[in-house]
Amino acid sequence: MGPELFTPIRLSGVELPNRVVVSPMCQYTSVDGAMNEWHVVHLGQYGLGGAGLVITEATAVSPEGRISPFDAGLWDDACLESMRPVVEFFKAHTDSALGIQLAHAGRKASVHPPWGGSGSVGIGDGGWQTVAPSAAAYEGMGTPVALDRVGLDRIRDAFAAAAVRADGAGFDLVEVHAAHGYLLHQFLSPLSNIREDEYGGALGNRMRFPLEVCGAVREAWPSDKPLGIRISATDWVSGGWDVEQSIEFASEVSALGYDVLTASSGGLSADQRVETGPGYQVPFARAVKAAVPDMKMIAVGMITEADQAEEILTSGSADLIAIAREFLYDPYWPRHAAHILGAEVQVPKQHIRGEPSLRPERIDRPV
Ligand SMILES: Cc1cc2nc3c(=O)[nH]c(=O)nc-3n(C[C@H](O)[C@H](O)[C@H](O)COP(=O)(O)O)c2cc1C
Repeated sequence: MGPELFTPIRLSGVELPNRVVVSPMCQYTSVDGAMNEWHVVHLGQYGLGGAGLVITEATAVSPEGRISPFDAGLWDDACLESMRPVVEFFKAHTDSALGIQLAHAGRKASVHPPWGGSGSVGIGDGGWQTVAPSAAAYEGMGTPVALDRVGLDRIRDAFAAAAVRADGAGFDLVEVHAAHGYLLHQFLSPLSNIREDEYGGALGNRMRFPLEVCGAVREAWPSDKPLGIRISATDWVSGGWDVEQSIEFASEVSALGYDVLTASSGGLSADQRVETGPGYQVPFARAVKAAVPDMKMIAVGMITEADQAEEILTSGSADLIAIAREFLYDPYWPRHAAHILGAEVQVPKQHIRGEPSLRPERIDRPV
């Protein structure tokens, strides 16, 4: 038996060649939601690097669901067409599966990209009125309008329509973004959801809209393609969303037929006190996996080393590992990890001559 990290895994009708996932990363490089040549190269490099699954950045289901004016989106067919070159590159040149994260930023929408200023973009400056479960602002951002029935239905339908387009574009997996303080997380957390109707209050009510969205996406997305969800397992704020509620929510999402869950955390409140360190979110994946065994689990957060990733899998904490920032630094992380663990990973034929095993002159040092 080789290392678990490089053992294939089946998610519904899709077999991943290994358990390394490129975590979604916003690029703030789109105009009108469209992907472009940046995305072909940026995402494509991870396919060449041998990741089992690459998930695109948070992709907005409607224009006002974008975090910034420069986010990718999938609200119309022009957006869909812009993604074809990305998908075609993966199908033609890599063995990696390609997923797309579908998102709505809710009250955290209409802000500047990290390199473009801070806080909200004014409505006259290319920004827009944000929406949320309740008219309660995130610190330093504009006050959202509380969604009414029409608004809720429109967003639920936008998620479903985006899932149909994602299938049309050829993506292998959809991940619903219910983490990091964005719209669906805003419904889940009692800190941001202070509604008094059937969508607020008790846990069952707070889960209602996210579950309606998950159900609509499940119906819209082919039954033989895997569906995922990303949650924040805790708000890191006393009295907020926590692991116990996450387990309840994960059970409901699993019952809808979702295949895989990424256990992240935080992003909902400026009062959060996050305890970081290597693998700091792995215990959340482990807790949800133990309680919801039908759901495959992705651990994420400060996983940077091959041995560390392997241990997370062999200890039974998760089924896959996702990496974000380390991939920005080392897009060929899977190749380097395979070398360290003594495993095989897919290498494009054009790159085979770079493999250390074929270069005896290479000093074999840790990467
Ligand atoms: C540049 C950047 C953009 C990100 N964008 C997203 C995103 O679009 N969706 C998401 O769920 N998480 C996003 N994240 C969070 C990462 O996916 C990941 O969960 C987090 O960075 C922790 O993993 P790491 O320690 O390997 O970086 C982003 C992180 C970075 C660094």
